[in-house]
Amino acid sequence: AKSLRLGIAGLGTVGVGLIKIIQDNADMLTMRTGTSISISAVSARSAGKDRGVDIAAYAWEDDPVALATRDDVDVFVELIGGDAGPALAATEAAIAAGKHVVTANKAMLALHGQALALAAEDAGVNLRFEAAVAGGIPIIKSLTEGLAGNNITRIMGVMNGTCNYILTRMETAGLSYDEVFEEANQLGYLEADPNLDVGGIDAAHKLVLLSAIAFGTQVDFDGAVLEGIGRITIEDIRAAGEMGYRIKLLGVTQMTDTGLSQTMRPCLVPQSSPLAQLDGGTNMIVVEGDSVGQVVLRGAGAGEGPTASAVIGDVMDIARGINIPVFGQPANTLKSAPAVQTAVE
Ligand code: NDP
Ligand code: HSE
Repeated sequence: AKSLRLGIAGLGTVGVGLIKIIQDNADMLTMRTGTSISISAVSARSAGKDRGVDIAAYAWEDDPVALATRDDVDVFVELIGGDAGPALAATEAAIAAGKHVVTANKAMLALHGQALALAAEDAGVNLRFEAAVAGGIPIIKSLTEGLAGNNITRIMGVMNGTCNYILTRMETAGLSYDEVFEEANQLGYLEADPNLDVGGIDAAHKLVLLSAIAFGTQVDFDGAVLEGIGRITIEDIRAAGEMGYRIKLLGVTQMTDTGLSQTMRPCLVPQSSPLAQLDGGTNMIVVEGDSVGQVVLRGAGAGEGPTASAVIGDVMDIARGINIPVFGQPANTLKSAPAVQTAVE
């Protein structure tokens, strides 16, 4: 079999999940890709930490940039997080060194995705990010492959597991915000800076990546209208329930006559709607296309296994020699669109 050697930077929730999949399913991965997928080296902040997986066989690098550019690394897997710093530096270095990149980092892509995509396409390497949007739900693959022949008219959905977990657990278990926040933390849902979750910023990062693919527009995080769940109280949730609604942090992106409308904010959703049925860390994304009609994808939006599932899927595509443009069309053809700054209903 051919071989594909990974360098994994970031050994937290997602990194450990990825190592478990590779260690537990080596034969299946080889069978399905015709390629032996192995880990050459890893990197994280603390070298001595017990991570619950055996990493003794892998070389250790303190510096993610050194990891990304090693001769025995074909694919750099970036699972550190953060919109700049070591994640960005190592991703740029990997691309410059001709390595493929797989990342789960929506913050980095929402701010630097266009430049990184241009660099990756120039270098002829993959830059893949299925895990960055809605965890285990294969929404990027759906948009760039299965639904690629559609004019997308609208995408909407619940895209942050933490917020959905907090809203639903407060409602159904009657727990306080602090209690459910800690539960979400234990489940590995939170960003390193949880303000990104509850502020709606993480979900907006995801939404703007979907917009770029759906509408062939430049990634425009500043153009998104966003509000988080920080002001939602248990009384609001109960009052919504009495009126037949549930409160969801809902993202909607659509192209209008005046420009691109991207909104992420708490919304009242009728209890009869499938979107209202989502509990815990579940996400749902509704895609509307001119030929296909409506497609609904639902699944775990965060956590170790689901997110690692998306990462290994990207790695397997690279093993199979698949290379499609980062945002579904060449990055230098993505158009700028005026941002509609008020909500379109
Ligand atoms: P964690 O906080 O669990 O893990 C981050 C890892 O990065 C840790 O191993 C940490 O090292 C390492 N790290 C931090 N700073 C550095 C540095 N300067 N140099 C090298 N390594 C560093 O994060 P997650 O696994 O939860 O998230 C990783 C990425 O995946 C993020 O981009 C996140 O947004 C994204 N993501 C996460 C999901 C989830 O459900 N958790 C879902 C979808 C995407 P150490 O362990 O030594 O401290
Ligand atoms: N913090 C994110 C969430 C992780 O809660 O949805 C998945 O992207």
